[in-house]
Amino acid sequence: MTRVAEKTPRRCLVHIRWMIRRDMPEVLDIENEAFEFPWPAEDFVRYLEKRSCTGTVAEHEDRVVGFMLYILHKKCIHVSDFAVAEDYRHRGIGTQMVDELIGKLDPRRRNRLLVQVRERNLAAQLFFFKCGFRAISVLHHAYDDVDEDAYIMSWRLRKAVVRKHINITSPRRAGGVTGRPDNGYSDEASKAEG
Ligand SMILES: CC(C)(COP(=O)(O)OP(=O)(O)OC[C@H]1O[C@@H](n2cnc3c(N)ncnc32)[C@H](O)[C@@H]1OP(=O)(O)O)[C@@H](O)C(=O)NCCC(=O)NCCS
Repeated sequence: MTRVAEKTPRRCLVHIRWMIRRDMPEVLDIENEAFEFPWPAEDFVRYLEKRSCTGTVAEHEDRVVGFMLYILHKKCIHVSDFAVAEDYRHRGIGTQMVDELIGKLDPRRRNRLLVQVRERNLAAQLFFFKCGFRAISVLHHAYDDVDEDAYIMSWRLRKAVVRKHINITSPRRAGGVTGRPDNGYSDEASKAEG
C-alpha cells in the first residue's frame, strides 16, 4: 500500500540571497547540467558587472540548489537565466524563486516579469505557465547556437492582496501577493533581451 507521504511531493524551503563569487562553481555546475548551450563563466562575470543586472542563489543546507539572473528595467524585470539543480527539481524551489521576483514588483511601476523560453524547452514553458506566466509573443530565430524560436512569457502584477489565510503548502501565496495570468500583448516584450 502506498503511504500518503510517498504520494505527496517533497517540498523544500530555500533561502534566497545575493550570488557571490564563491557560489560560481556550484552555479556553473547547475548551468551545465541544465542547458544544452550553457553560459560560460566569463558570461556570468560580464553580466554581473553591469549595474542593473542581479544574480541570486537559492540555498538549502549550505548547498546552492538554484540560481537566477535578472535585469531590473524601469517597467519590468527581465529574467535572463533561471535553473534548479537536477536532484532538487519538483520540490517547489523554482516556484519560490519566482515568488522572490514577484516580491520585487510594484503595481504602479515595475509590474511585470518577462522571460524568454526556447521553443523546445517544454518543461520550462509548463513550469512558467503553472506559475501564472502566459506566452505573449514569439521571437523567430532567436538564438545564435541553433536555429530555434523563443516564446516571451510574461507575468503581470495587477493588484496586491493581503491574504488572511496563508497557505503554507503554496510558497506562491505565502508571499502575500497574487497576480492574474497575463494574456495581453505588451510593447515591452519586443524590447526584452535574449
Ligand atoms: C524549469 C525549472 C526551473 C523548474 O524548477 P522546479 O524547482 O523543478 O519547479 P517547481 O518544483 O517549483 O515546479 C512547479 C510546477 O511547475 C511545473 N513543472 C515543473 N517542472 C516541470 C516539468 N519538467 N514538466 C512539466 N511541468 C513542470 C509543475 O506543474 C510543478 O508543480 P508540481 O510539482 O505540483 O507538479 C527546472 O526544471 C530547471 O531548472 N530546468 C532546466 C533549466 C531551465 O529550463 N530553465 C528555464 C530557462 S527559460
